[in-house]
Amino acid sequence: MNVDQTVRTFLDFYRERGHLLISEHSLVPPPGDPVLFTTSGMHPLTPYLSGRPHPRGPRLVNLQRCLRTTDLDEVGDDTHLTVFRMLGSWSLGSYPGVQSLTWGHELIRDGFGIDSDRLHVTVHEDDLESLRTWERIGVPVELTRDENWWSNGPTGPCGPDSEIFVWTGDTPPEGTPTTDPRWVEVWNHVMMRYLRHEDGRLEPVTPERVDTGMGLERMLTILQRKRSVYDTDVFRPWRLDGLWPLDERSQRVVTDHLRSSVVVIGDGVRPSPNGRGYVLRRLVRRVLTRLWRVDPEWTLGDLPTGPIESTIDHFGQPTGVGQVREVLLSEEDRFRRLMTRGRPVVTRRRSRGPLTDDDFRYLHDTYGLPRELVVDLLEER
Ligand code: SER
Repeated sequence: MNVDQTVRTFLDFYRERGHLLISEHSLVPPPGDPVLFTTSGMHPLTPYLSGRPHPRGPRLVNLQRCLRTTDLDEVGDDTHLTVFRMLGSWSLGSYPGVQSLTWGHELIRDGFGIDSDRLHVTVHEDDLESLRTWERIGVPVELTRDENWWSNGPTGPCGPDSEIFVWTGDTPPEGTPTTDPRWVEVWNHVMMRYLRHEDGRLEPVTPERVDTGMGLERMLTILQRKRSVYDTDVFRPWRLDGLWPLDERSQRVVTDHLRSSVVVIGDGVRPSPNGRGYVLRRLVRRVLTRLWRVDPEWTLGDLPTGPIESTIDHFGQPTGVGQVREVLLSEEDRFRRLMTRGRPVVTRRRSRGPLTDDDFRYLHDTYGLPRELVVDLLEER
């Protein structure tokens, strides 16, 4: 199944069961939202999962782009991406979690053709309803505590979840999701049974809401029998063969961060010293640091327009390729100047011994060198 067929299979399954498609939001949440970026498909639906009726009704489905910086250090492995897409379904009190799990299993088995013997789930130990449902369906269950509780922040809708894992090993399945990394999580069904208040109190929400989210690129890795998300058709335009010869991990980080930067720029963010713009700046700088470690002459100016064009197309963004390139190149220019200015200063300071917090403060206050940049310069050595 290619990416379009996979998306269609998911959306059609839920549309046939009375769910209405809601449109995809930008990565940038509306003003007043406390988070920098949309981090999951449910984020734009927070008020509705807390009890407010949704104008499109109580059964919803969509595909939502998300950005997570919490996993930044894991990017480069087989499964983590900075910007990814989540297929989601929601019941705003229309049906309970048990129904969501039953449909979920049906879609995985009949829609995506994955046999039950390649599945394992993890369930919150107090969520007996979900436990019994999985036992009835015939999928092995591992009970956990903290790992199977989902919330989008310190307050708001939350509850126990069932995480669905698919076996990706070459041998018959072994172990459990918490003991063997070849079990890859693809789908999470959250029983949003509570609303957490500022004082920590949990207020039951009845009837319960259900929020599910499936990582599209991870699912594609499995459906296309690939080793990593980078080998799926989503990344075909990003195979920059021979452009910047790098080790595999660096190649993946560069690909992920550049693609994520393009999507973030496409959603209107520009590099800046704080907030969203700083996340973008960090992504571009991490790319350049990886490139310049191998060859300081490499430049984003050599990046072909194809990957940029296909990415903004894929995400349906109005930004032009020229604009994206302009942002990337001016950020590169700025970073190159900072590096040139910073290198001798950091080297001098470093020659006296490992840098202390006072050194970092001094380099920042006197030379305008942010801590992260100094760390990059130190890593260069
Ligand atoms: N909110 C859950 C998650 O992001 C399921 O959508 O994993």
